[in-house]
Amino acid sequence: MPYQLPFPKDAQEEIVIPDAMAEDERIWVPQAENVSFRPLCLNRSQGYWMNLLRVRKSGVLSRHRHPQPVHGFVLKGRWHYLEHDWEAREGSYVFEPPGETHTLVVPEDVPEMITYFQVNGVMLYVDPWGKTMGYEDVFTKIDMCRKHYEAVGLGADYVDRFIR
Ligand SMILES: [Fe+2]
Repeated sequence: MPYQLPFPKDAQEEIVIPDAMAEDERIWVPQAENVSFRPLCLNRSQGYWMNLLRVRKSGVLSRHRHPQPVHGFVLKGRWHYLEHDWEAREGSYVFEPPGETHTLVVPEDVPEMITYFQVNGVMLYVDPWGKTMGYEDVFTKIDMCRKHYEAVGLGADYVDRFIR
C-alpha cells in the first residue's frame, strides 16, 4: 500500500532523467579538450553537484584539490590518477576523501570514459605545489551549463531542471 499522506509542502521536486547517458550531444557541456560533463543534480542549496564526466580519446582533467569528499562510479572505460597507483575501471566505485589532490588521466587506448561523480563544495585547480590557479563549484557549473545550452539552442533555462 503506498504512503497515504501528502509530502511536506516545502519539499523540493524530485529529478528523474531517463536518458542519463544522453545520446543528444547538446546535453554534454564541454569543459576542456576532450572533456565534457552531463549535469544530473546541481544542488545549490547544499553546495554539491552530481554529473557524468565524459572523456574521449586520451583526455586529462587538470590537477585539482578537493577540500570535501567525492564519490565516483565508473560507467564506461577506465582511468587513473597520476597521484595513485590504482586504476578505476568499469564498475568501480571510488571514495575520494577530503584533502585529495589529483590529476585524472584516461589512457590512449580508451576511446570513451564515463564516470558518475558527486563532487562536494569546491574543486581548486592547483599547480604542482598546491598554489590555487582557479576553482569550480556548483555555481560555476550552472554558469557553464547556461552558456552552453544557450549556444546550442536548448535555451539558458534548460539547466533549471537539474537545479535544487
Ligand atoms: Fe577530482
